[in-house]
Amino acid sequence: MTRRQFSPDDPERRKWQDPVEILSLIGLGPGMVFVDIGCGDGYFALPAARKVGHRGRVYANDIDADAVERLRQRAAQEGLDNLVAEVKEAEETLACEGCADVVFFGIDLHDFRDPAQVLVNAKKMLSPKGKLVDLDWKDQPMPVGPPPEKRFSIDKARNLIVSAGLRVVSVQDSGPYHYLITATR
Ligand SMILES: C[S@@+](CC[C@H](N)C(=O)[O-])C[C@H]1O[C@@H](n2cnc3c(N)ncnc32)[C@H](O)[C@@H]1O
Repeated sequence: MTRRQFSPDDPERRKWQDPVEILSLIGLGPGMVFVDIGCGDGYFALPAARKVGHRGRVYANDIDADAVERLRQRAAQEGLDNLVAEVKEAEETLACEGCADVVFFGIDLHDFRDPAQVLVNAKKMLSPKGKLVDLDWKDQPMPVGPPPEKRFSIDKARNLIVSAGLRVVSVQDSGPYHYLITATR
């Protein structure tokens, strides 16, 4: 797997993206179910598991088996038994149906083979009041992130989300390099 992975403690990334702040902003709290699609090493899944606590649950999926294994080990070290990390392709994955308070995409919607299908799956996982969160790279020049041709503009992401049958609720900046879109069923 050649795709760049971020360590959960990456000090450089924390300068421009604070996972705890973002999870608070989207309203994640104790007892909630958080689905992290394309979780990598758990930059968001680990703080999410700490936040939802023992009554909540985090389902974290990725195609990168090494990253999933590192995430499992880190969760075990911390005693986070509310985190279920599995090697799965997002296009083929439903962690559950109608269970998720949050289905989260951490800088990765543009990475998927079939983002439209992944969003249809996300809709099925959302609870009636659940929230889809798409955090992704702004489509403009900057010193970090994927090449321009890989990025999704806000309009492109919004259109994909709406085409999956979801309702966009908000679009905002998230730090210097990212936008954050929220949507509901
Ligand atoms: C840029 S990384 C982001 C990882 C993590 N969300 C974060 O914020 O650090 C993109 C992730 O998407 C995963 N990925 C790419 N295509 C995928 C697919 N079809 N299904 C599941 N995961 C996928 C990659 O393996 C990688 O871990």
